[in-house]
Amino acid sequence: MATINDNLQTWSNYDWSQSGDEWSAGWGGTEYLWTCTILPRILPYLPLGRTLELAPGFGRWTQFLKDVSQELILVDLTERCIDACKARFAGAKNLRYFTNDGKSLDMIEDNSLDFVFSWDSLVHVEIDVLEAYLKQLAKKLKPDGVGFIHHSNLGRYCDQNGEVLVENAAWRAGTVTAEGFEAICASVGLCCIRQELINWNGLLLNDCISVFTPQGSKFDQPNQRWKNLFFGDESRRVRKIAEHYKGVENKQVVHQAGMGEWIGRITIAAQGRPVYIWGTGKVGSAVYYLLQELGIQAAGFIDSDVRKAGQKLMDLNIAAPDEAIGLVEDIFVVIGSIAYHQEIGNRLIEMGLKSIIDFDTIPYITKP
Ligand SMILES: C[S@@+](CC[C@H](N)C(=O)[O-])C[C@H]1O[C@@H](n2cnc3c(N)ncnc32)[C@H](O)[C@@H]1O
Repeated sequence: MATINDNLQTWSNYDWSQSGDEWSAGWGGTEYLWTCTILPRILPYLPLGRTLELAPGFGRWTQFLKDVSQELILVDLTERCIDACKARFAGAKNLRYFTNDGKSLDMIEDNSLDFVFSWDSLVHVEIDVLEAYLKQLAKKLKPDGVGFIHHSNLGRYCDQNGEVLVENAAWRAGTVTAEGFEAICASVGLCCIRQELINWNGLLLNDCISVFTPQGSKFDQPNQRWKNLFFGDESRRVRKIAEHYKGVENKQVVHQAGMGEWIGRITIAAQGRPVYIWGTGKVGSAVYYLLQELGIQAAGFIDSDVRKAGQKLMDLNIAAPDEAIGLVEDIFVVIGSIAYHQEIGNRLIEMGLKSIIDFDTIPYITKP
């Protein structure tokens, strides 16, 4: 659980020396992330009238939003961030600034907003905060206003007790799902019109971009939900463009396969064969879910630690390597481990399986 106070502490004490630009490195820089990833997604609503940017931090998106908005209102929980924005955009005449308690939008007049924007901030807030904001936004938006909010979808990978079953390296909120966000919209008089589930910084669809509008607005339409497993590939391509044309420092890691290539390989190789996942840690669980996103139901798990044989994970049996590889006919194995992928691959080859044809790693494994 990430509370409002956790956020306040984290962002008050964060090392803001790069103003958040360090989070754009995967795209080759902030301008590239804005131009190639954010802008195409908000383009249908440009130019913007009165816009609210929720949780701007040190103004990574404010610098662009202020030029496409008639008026821009910034609201952030952290005073240090609002102070930094005031200093950074001192010359801009169309900005207003507010610090809040992490939930309130009292400073905004009802029926006054054309657009609400938030990116890479509310991914860290739990569902109660989103609910509070959406409830108020239903009143603050004009009848044809639109919201564009990037939030967590990590709840997709939690069990009934709310325990996160996969790696949560990017501090996503475990109580939030795309479906939950959509349901809140419906209950407060808004409607989600588009949701894009994205694999931010990993394999799984742990984030979501939701676009919403007041019910009955000119944009009102049935929700279209897109499971975009290629979002990670998108950022990598943009980064390649930045490297090639702008000459940003060439730190591009070379992968054995990006997501697109991997999905192509796996769907062909796994067709009609029992698929086993070798690895029962967080990566193994992520592979289980990733296969599920592709409509492939794993048949079981394998673990090098034979003491785990006979136990269960995701309601599937865990087998010892000899047991599974020896007994399951025409098996296909996905290696669900990053740390040991080389060793497991070598063992599979010793056991007579062929790389790519009979087993594969996960996407984005770095080439040796
Ligand atoms: C990771 S920073 C991102 C800032 C900016 N969006 C960017 O992409 O550079 C997270 C920001 O969200 C703000 N924040 C976190 N929880 C919030 C809440 N409940 N209400 C308003 N702002 C919040 C923090 O103060 C911080 O400025």
